[in-house]
Amino acid sequence: MFTPVILAGGTGSRLWPLSRSHFPKQFLQLDDKHTLLQQTILRLGGLAHAKPMFICHEEHRFVAAEQIRQLNLKQVDILLEPAGRNTAPAIALAAMRVAAQGNANVLLLVQPADHVIADVKNFQQVIRQACSYAEEGYLVTFGIVPTSAETGYGYIRRAAAVANAFSVCQFVEKPDFNTAKHYVQTGEYYWNSGIFMFRADVYLDQLKQFRPDIYACCQAAIAEQVTDLDFIRINTEAFLACPAESVDYAIMEHTAKAVVLPLDAGWSDVGGYNTLWQYQSKDDHNNVIKGDVMTLDTRNCYLHSDDKLVSTLGVQDLIVVSTKDAVLVAHKDKAQQIKELVKKLEQAG
Ligand code: GDD
Ligand code: MG
Repeated sequence: MFTPVILAGGTGSRLWPLSRSHFPKQFLQLDDKHTLLQQTILRLGGLAHAKPMFICHEEHRFVAAEQIRQLNLKQVDILLEPAGRNTAPAIALAAMRVAAQGNANVLLLVQPADHVIADVKNFQQVIRQACSYAEEGYLVTFGIVPTSAETGYGYIRRAAAVANAFSVCQFVEKPDFNTAKHYVQTGEYYWNSGIFMFRADVYLDQLKQFRPDIYACCQAAIAEQVTDLDFIRINTEAFLACPAESVDYAIMEHTAKAVVLPLDAGWSDVGGYNTLWQYQSKDDHNNVIKGDVMTLDTRNCYLHSDDKLVSTLGVQDLIVVSTKDAVLVAHKDKAQQIKELVKKLEQAG
């Protein structure tokens, strides 16, 4: 038995303009049925778990609540952050809430709300294995065999085997390209999937040890929690005073309690249009086509239109996304730099 904790507070700027600050990636529907947020809870179907807790920005409460309502879950908690402070504080709030309810050693399964996992059966099998390690007091990470020197991921170096898992001798968050390349070549590293399982009390102990400042701010914020239907609000002033830090930098780089379970389940963090293109069905010329799009002599493109006819002729390897108020035309090789474009747009106001 575990409590699902679903982190839904990110912005996903590499999928602009599909993903916007008022409608980020986790709320997007990439297949025909469910949004990424909905898939995150649905993939737990059949596993015994307690009431899930979603943690998101206050600004997104209605879209989150509506997507959750569509799933007809019996009970949920939606914890609202007045501002994003990254994942270490978000997880702390969840852990403190369950601990305050008298369940300090309850297991938390922390999942990002914006990932795809194609093989749910394998995923569930690994989650079942994770429970026993987490119960023993380990911080369980889920490792993906790396296929390239990605600099946007954490790298986990495995050491001795502990039954199905490995102890972790090094965790490096977002190394530079040459370091990442070296890690991949050694064959000893996994990518960190961003999914974690641990006991609430173990997480809080580690946070207190490595980041007492974050611990204190979160404690002050949750101490004044107010429940309003499914929503849980916290003390704004106390939370705004909290430093922003990810769980990876705050805890995982320092802890001696991590183990890694290999996860081979078609994991993807849908980090950009190239991944979207990879995952979606294509026409005879390798184009992903969404909406009202007409092509001639067009290959290997990602083409999306929300409301007007988009037509292409004699082009290849392009991303063209047309939404109500913005159009993106980019080369597929530059997909990772869309993040920079978004920054520039934000600066321009
Ligand atoms: N509630 C809440 N509040 N959620 C947040 C916040 C926040 O302030 N910031 C981020 N999140 C959510 C995001 O929506 C996402 O679901 C998850 O937490 C992870 O945050 P990202 O910002 O997407 O992290 P990342 O992708 O840069 O890195 C993490 O994931 C990689 C794998 O995709 C790290 O864990 C890396 O080590 C890992 O490799
Ligand atoms: Mg991410």
